Amino acid sequence: MSTSASNPSGFGFASHLFCRECGATFALGASHACAECFGPLEVGYELPPVTRADIEAGPASIWRYASLLPVPRGIAATPNTEPGWTRLARTDQLARELGMRTLWLKDERGNPTHSFKDRVVAVALAAAVEMGYKVLACPSTGNLANAVAAAAARAGIRSVVLIPADLEPQKIAATAIYGGAMVPVDGSYDDVNRLASELADDREDWAFVNVNVRPYYAEGSKTIGYEIAEQLGWRLPEQIVVPVASGAQLVKIDKAFRELIELGLVADTRYRVFGAQATGCSPVAAAFRAGHDVVQPVKPATIAKSLAIGNPADGPYVLDVVRRTGGAVADVGDDAVIHAIRMLAATEGVFGETASGVTLGVLGRLLADGLLDPGAETVIINSGDGLKTLDAVGSPYGAGGPAAIRPTLEAFEAWEASRAA
Ligand SMILES: Cc1ncc(COP(=O)(O)O)c(C=O)c1O
Ligand SMILES: [Zn+2]
Repeated sequence: MSTSASNPSGFGFASHLFCRECGATFALGASHACAECFGPLEVGYELPPVTRADIEAGPASIWRYASLLPVPRGIAATPNTEPGWTRLARTDQLARELGMRTLWLKDERGNPTHSFKDRVVAVALAAAVEMGYKVLACPSTGNLANAVAAAAARAGIRSVVLIPADLEPQKIAATAIYGGAMVPVDGSYDDVNRLASELADDREDWAFVNVNVRPYYAEGSKTIGYEIAEQLGWRLPEQIVVPVASGAQLVKIDKAFRELIELGLVADTRYRVFGAQATGCSPVAAAFRAGHDVVQPVKPATIAKSLAIGNPADGPYVLDVVRRTGGAVADVGDDAVIHAIRMLAATEGVFGETASGVTLGVLGRLLADGLLDPGAETVIINSGDGLKTLDAVGSPYGAGGPAAIRPTLEAFEAWEASRAA
């Protein structure tokens, strides 16, 4: 990244694409794989000087960081879902329960479709429009389908989302409502992703946000990192725990922290990045433990369906980040996921989804294993909403709902007595 100012284009101050494997550079445009080695491409910038005041004067959405994203200057005024600027909550009761000093929760339920995916989709949509694509599409583990269908509706363009047929009913309903095309596929997410890759080659004007527009899409997750630093008063946390499916979110939060240091917007303080997976789909945690650089694909079997990517595209880059920063990748089983969802709700009034349970569960595991310092300031990402994964926690009353009482004082007192017993 250089910091010499240049004329912003339809991609803002983004100046080129480069290969994450061999470093070859390419013009900005509709490519996602390196022509030399097939490695994944990433967006590079010639950033202008950016000040804290410039950013603070911006809108209460990800567009306050527009100059650090591959989007046109006037992006905030275009019809979009205006994601981001979610709250960073200090969670003292949860911290006490875990024996930690300072714990913060980045609550991504505050986004328009209740997960962080609205961020990446907004950036992908802007780039897709710039490149002349006509249809917004994706393979999805659920939350991305919600975000694509909503963003396309808002922008007035067609959407096509491909999902594994066994997704949570709430995620299917919360996608269908936006009126785009939704295609349930008989297979795992990795099967759906393969089909999407074939379609992306076949349908010239379809932007599969996380396939052929992936370099731009993934940049959207940087905004989680920017916001955390700004909300902490322009400084970095000492530790951060991030859920890992493809791994893009974790890798981009680290990229954001490094950019903020390079731009002089935060002090260059040490931070450690930790990744969280469900044991039933933990290929990156397994590679971390084994000391491997490559990630062996697995067949997922976990209630954390949003994280059920058995062949994660950014897996090796997650390993690079956690090893460079002195973090770790760990996993927890489904029972611990449910326990963590309940703990977060009961201590902080936050109902997170299964991915949230994975992240908090792994925080507990890392503490127990002595890998994470309970005295160091820590942030965890609550990436999605529990209302979309209701079946995972079930009803406390069983299938029929709570037994009703008669509307009398006597009936209420009898109910109270039965509870005390
Ligand atoms: C709620 C939630 N959290 C985290 C993730 C992980 O994102 P990534 O694929 O960037 O690792 C996903 C991905 O689908 C998700 O839906
Ligand atoms: Zn290459």
